[in-house]
Amino acid sequence: MFREDTIAKFRTIQTPFYYYDMELLRKTLSTCAGVAGRFGYKLHYALKANSNPEVLSVISGAGYGADCVSGNEIRAAVENGFNPKQIMFSGVGKSDAEIRLALQLGIQSLNVESRQEMEIIDELAGAIGLKAGISLRIIPNVDARTHRYITTGLEENKFGILPWEFDRVLETLKQLGNLRLKGLHFHIGSQITDLGVFKSLCHRINDINEWFISNQVRAEIINVGGGLGIDYQDPDRNPVPDFGEYFRVFKDFIRLQPDQELHFEPGRALVGQCGSLITKVLFVKKGVNTRFAIVDAGMNDLIRPALYQSYHRMENLTSVDPPEKYDVVGPICESSDCFGKAVSLPKTRRNDLLAIRSAGAYGQTMSSRYNLRDLAAAFYSDRGIAFRNIIRDI
Ligand code: LLP
Repeated sequence: MFREDTIAKFRTIQTPFYYYDMELLRKTLSTCAGVAGRFGYKLHYALKANSNPEVLSVISGAGYGADCVSGNEIRAAVENGFNPKQIMFSGVGKSDAEIRLALQLGIQSLNVESRQEMEIIDELAGAIGLKAGISLRIIPNVDARTHRYITTGLEENKFGILPWEFDRVLETLKQLGNLRLKGLHFHIGSQITDLGVFKSLCHRINDINEWFISNQVRAEIINVGGGLGIDYQDPDRNPVPDFGEYFRVFKDFIRLQPDQELHFEPGRALVGQCGSLITKVLFVKKGVNTRFAIVDAGMNDLIRPALYQSYHRMENLTSVDPPEKYDVVGPICESSDCFGKAVSLPKTRRNDLLAIRSAGAYGQTMSSRYNLRDLAAAFYSDRGIAFRNIIRDI
């Protein structure tokens, strides 16, 4: 997957750093937009997956709208070329300042999660003399069959409005003069690989949509959220998710009124495979039953394995020796700082470079400065090194 000249370049950059294959990003974006366009579906990229300015400007340039979950994400979206009229703002805890920002920018929709939030948005919109376009984030009670931390569409989750609250929500809506209901919003979870889950979602949405229509509420936007998973096991075999198969499920199973639009909020599926975390081996140490490859990236750079026990494929880019098994661990003072146990890698030595694959989504955006470590830089296949927060000499 990595060309020799790319690996030679890696040798000149201080590790750890994120590498983004911008060609793959472009290909993924155009494949997804191509299929969605054929069905007339609208796309909003979920910034939380990766909010690198360089990545954002490529995505906005490919014609995508945005799905944001904070005031800063809304700002980053606008600064990097997204049209406010195509921005959705989701989130279970929006601050007053964030709501005001969204209203002032005239974004497409604030996705509200409770009646109390509706009242607050109404009040803030009234105070600045604006009407707020809102969507109701609804809990469809569909099990995403993914990791429990990234399951969001069940009754016990904190997100959204429950169906037995609908009557009262409609009453509240009638009383509040500064809200305009635009849409119904759903998002049931992330890294969903069983497409049957989306089929169940379609059935639930059909029932809910019909309930609203029978109550004289016709939402112009049906937003089904994101969630399409990627192949972490074999990123080279499946670098671009099967968007055709994914959208086809909605085409086949969702029932829309002629004036209703279907919107999606993909994050991981667009950016996951284009990113790798490149790290250098500092030491190889023999443990009791294992050998540790101690690398210079830590859970602060990529927290997914520690937080969700998630698998990321690892490759040694600089050794072709016969394989041995290693626990690949970082330098952070926690035993959870482990990228993988008993990983088969070509014999690994100090200064070898490892690639931790499929790290383009929820990698850099979830990184922190824990242990006061520097934030990793980013290296883009088409434009060299750039990362605005870089605080060391590279
Ligand atoms: N829309 C909403 C309302 C969301 O909450 C999310 C993700 C998305 C769209 C995008 O979902 P995607 O297409 O990326 O699955 N940090 C976790 C993932 C958390 C996802 C949170 N919500 C991870 O590393 O697996």
